[in-house]
Amino acid sequence: MADNIHPIFSRMVQRNERERRLRQRSKALWFTGLSGSGKSTIAIGLERMLFDQGYFAQIIDGDNLRHGLNANLGFSLEDRTENIRRVAELTKLYVHSGIITLCTFVSPTREIRQQARQIIGESDFKEVYINTPLDICEQRDVKGLYAKARRGEIKDFTGIDAPYEAPEHPDFDIRTNELTIEQSVQLLFDQLLPIIRTNNF
Ligand code: ADX
Repeated sequence: MADNIHPIFSRMVQRNERERRLRQRSKALWFTGLSGSGKSTIAIGLERMLFDQGYFAQIIDGDNLRHGLNANLGFSLEDRTENIRRVAELTKLYVHSGIITLCTFVSPTREIRQQARQIIGESDFKEVYINTPLDICEQRDVKGLYAKARRGEIKDFTGIDAPYEAPEHPDFDIRTNELTIEQSVQLLFDQLLPIIRTNNF
């Protein structure tokens, strides 16, 4: 019962001490977009660029977590909501550890992303829309999942027979069909820098 739980957060090493140690401000970058839009690819490129520039970042990825922490969840709206709830709670812990956290989840509805924003906190949550049209994701079909969904072998597939609601006001809008992967990563890095950089520490 919540009544019998006594969080010890206030006695732990504080977030600002950790951020000072890491010489950065931590944020959650919430990548949303269709399957095959390029979320993981761009996050991997950004993670590498951040690391090489001396920042401490970590990706939390949908496909990865669904093998472990969230292995018991499917793709009904209810399960996706629970998937994102758990991930958002995890992300909050990461961000409070001073880590720049890159979350790559389809997170298909505005309500699901709003839930994540609420858990993580407005000022720490930056929405990154990996803005790739459905027909391009389907053409690429890296994992062969769109073909399966079209054949009816996968149900509730985002963009085919389950909804994807594009963000209305994303903090970063990455139009991957107009940019190379390198350009997308660089654009995101350049826009992110003022938010994570600090001169005070
Ligand atoms: S979310 O909707 O709950 O945010 P998440 O990002 O964790 O989804 O997982 C999406 C990944 O699972 C996709 O990239 C794809 O590889 C795989 N997948 C399998 N079935 C589905 C489905 N029905 N809809 C979307 N993605 C699916």
